[in-house]
Amino acid sequence: MKSIGCKFSQVSAKVRLNEGSIYVIEKKMNMSPHPFRVVNRFLQTELDARGIRTAMELGVIDFLARGDSFSLEEISRLRSVNPRGLKILMDMLLGNQVVEEIDNRISLSRDFRGALQFADLLESRMAFADLIWPDIHQYFTQLLNNIPEFMAKANVFKLFRYDRCFEISPQNIAATAAWVKFTTCLTKYEAASVIQNVDLTSVANLVDLGGNSGEFVLRICREYPGIAATVVDLPVVCHLGRQHIDATASRGEADRITFIPADLRNHALPPPVDLVTFKSVLHDWPDADARTFMDRARESVRPGGRLLIFEREPIDLRGSRIPYSMAPDLVFLHFLRPAEFYLDHLAKLGFESIEYRRIVLDIGFHLIVATRPM
Ligand SMILES: C[S@@+](CC[C@H](N)C(=O)[O-])C[C@H]1O[C@@H](n2cnc3c(N)ncnc32)[C@H](O)[C@@H]1O
Repeated sequence: MKSIGCKFSQVSAKVRLNEGSIYVIEKKMNMSPHPFRVVNRFLQTELDARGIRTAMELGVIDFLARGDSFSLEEISRLRSVNPRGLKILMDMLLGNQVVEEIDNRISLSRDFRGALQFADLLESRMAFADLIWPDIHQYFTQLLNNIPEFMAKANVFKLFRYDRCFEISPQNIAATAAWVKFTTCLTKYEAASVIQNVDLTSVANLVDLGGNSGEFVLRICREYPGIAATVVDLPVVCHLGRQHIDATASRGEADRITFIPADLRNHALPPPVDLVTFKSVLHDWPDADARTFMDRARESVRPGGRLLIFEREPIDLRGSRIPYSMAPDLVFLHFLRPAEFYLDHLAKLGFESIEYRRIVLDIGFHLIVATRPM
């Protein structure tokens, strides 16, 4: 078996499924800690999120984050918060281990201080879950049992409006920015597990199809100063992406990131490169389209180059309860596919070696890397 340069360490089974195709199935769960996952611990229920969000809005978290401990009376006076309301709020935060109380003095818990390192993710997860929650509350039966009806009724699908991503106008930019901020923040953290697990030292150029704000390629370019990256996405998304990269990347990184506004369904894709990536894109599409996108992506991989797919796997709770922070994942539950869907099609497309690893973040992800024959 030819190595394709993955950093995958433990291979637990090799399965020959099709003539000439070797799948390397990594069955062991990747238990690497991904420290940002700590934020989910504090967002188990809606009221957990309410408590934290309100404490942030009232400036109580910022106040306590300075490091001292305070009595309830001091917090109430210094932050001008109603004392009865503050008492309940503090009880909720104590119960959720956001704060601790010693000798009637309140301070942030050590673990929550750790979570505040990822304050953008914490806030983003709360905002995304809050946005989805009314749909779950109102249409949970339809979500489980009648997905067309759920899609017709749920407000979340009014947020992710790809039809508003073609014409660049102030209204479309505002509508698209409302969801691109969530995908950008999640990708900022999710990208790390791809970078940790796949060796990209031989890559000089890559194309990220459906690459959104460019956050994924920015993380890669930051790690690999020799890589030049192209993001293909719809025009409004590329417009926002250029702004995002210019605002957040260094000059050297921004110069290596190009955006190509295009419709993956029917526009020409860039000429072949060392690496083509699909991160959380294919699940948006029916099976036939997803296969067509993989067909098209193959043509953008140079012979000997690689195609990488990073996708959420079907939700499998294995007896655990669903935390509030997972509400957004629930909405996509019917669209997430087992790895075999991607592995089988890549094998049909004649990829030479196809490696798969399961990555566990908030939920499980498939990480698939396939090499095009020379
Ligand atoms: C779920 S988002 C994932 C974005 C990004 N890869 C990430 O992981 O954050 C799907 C992306 O596909 C893009 N997209 C949807 N339809 C598209 C099309 N027809 N052509 C190109 N991009 C498309 C969307 O604009 C969006 O950026």
